[in-house]
Amino acid sequence: MTHQEVRSKILGVGSYVPPRVWKNDDLQKLMDTSDEWIHQRTGIRQRHWVEGTTSTSDLALEAAKKAMAAAGVVKEEIDMILFATLSPDHDFPGSACFLQAKLGISGCPAIDIRQQCSGFVYGLSIADQFIRGGMAKKVLLVGSEIHSKGLDKTTRGRDVAVLFGDGAGAVVIGATSDLSGPHILSTHLHADGAFAKELWIEAPTQANDGPRLSAEILAEGGHYPKMNGKTVFMHAVRRMPEAIHEALNKNSLKIEDIDLFLFHQANLRINEMVAKQLEIPEEKVFNTIERFGNTTAATLPIGMDEAIRAGKLKPGMTVAMAAFGSGFTWASAIFKW
Ligand code: UT7
Repeated sequence: MTHQEVRSKILGVGSYVPPRVWKNDDLQKLMDTSDEWIHQRTGIRQRHWVEGTTSTSDLALEAAKKAMAAAGVVKEEIDMILFATLSPDHDFPGSACFLQAKLGISGCPAIDIRQQCSGFVYGLSIADQFIRGGMAKKVLLVGSEIHSKGLDKTTRGRDVAVLFGDGAGAVVIGATSDLSGPHILSTHLHADGAFAKELWIEAPTQANDGPRLSAEILAEGGHYPKMNGKTVFMHAVRRMPEAIHEALNKNSLKIEDIDLFLFHQANLRINEMVAKQLEIPEEKVFNTIERFGNTTAATLPIGMDEAIRAGKLKPGMTVAMAAFGSGFTWASAIFKW
């Protein structure tokens, strides 16, 4: 009997952003900022922010339904849920469990991934390993974030608040043994916890002697994300090219062999510098930051969905993706579409 190697492939993609748009000018009502500052430094023009009781798992549900429809997979076929987010509905249980209940399925494993902007690529890797190992057949991987409810939307927090948007993206990943067709070639994951506090949220916390959250912590804004922007920027422009080179080397590919690059969307300037270092022609990089801001774990699947709709991601293409973010974490993947 001949042994056929099992690999994984992306069967379908979907995304969802809440309808309410905040343009850069709208933020001026909340804080001392300007369209000029935001656009010049980051490339962002607008972001989508939720209203009311909408939760991270609600956004995820919409993206998941679209991804399953695109994949032609019914919810009963899903035998693993992976949910990448830094903005879960609650501290516990994980948002994957809430999503599972909203999908109306039960029994399959439901796992949260806490790798921030790299969460989607980490999830792709986990799905790939489970499928290759025969432990799962149809994995639903979602990246979903609601940043807007957790940002300091005053002048004090403007360096972070203007950057982030809400949204969700999802893929369904299944098995294949046809290596001439679509499949994931490889994934590469990294982290360096020495930089954990360069982009983090301090509270609620169990790392101090007092209550997890107090009036003092709230008054100081300890429950809002803090970022050392310049350090993050510096590491992002180094780590993403490194991760792309690693993925190319693993597959004996060259930059020219890649048809489309999807990078995490934290700052257009970062992606321009990464593309320059790698000598990638502009038309091979697909950016979405202008319309969505940084949607963390949702960024790459939203980018994939947008690229498909824009006719930029086409069957037969070889695609490379890379992400960098809080942790620090960074990761890359190459797949045939
Ligand atoms: O997805 C996670 C990964 N995140 C990233 O990769 C982000 C990486 N970092 C960056 O993209 C950039 O560092 C930022 C866009 C966040 C900031 O750009 P910067 O060029 O590093 O600006 P800065 O923080 O040094 O601030 C420059 C000035 C400051 O004023 P002074 O001290 O020069 O008077 C800030 O107070 O800009 C001021 N500033 C703002 N002004 C208007 C900071 N935020 C704002 C704002 N609007 N929103």
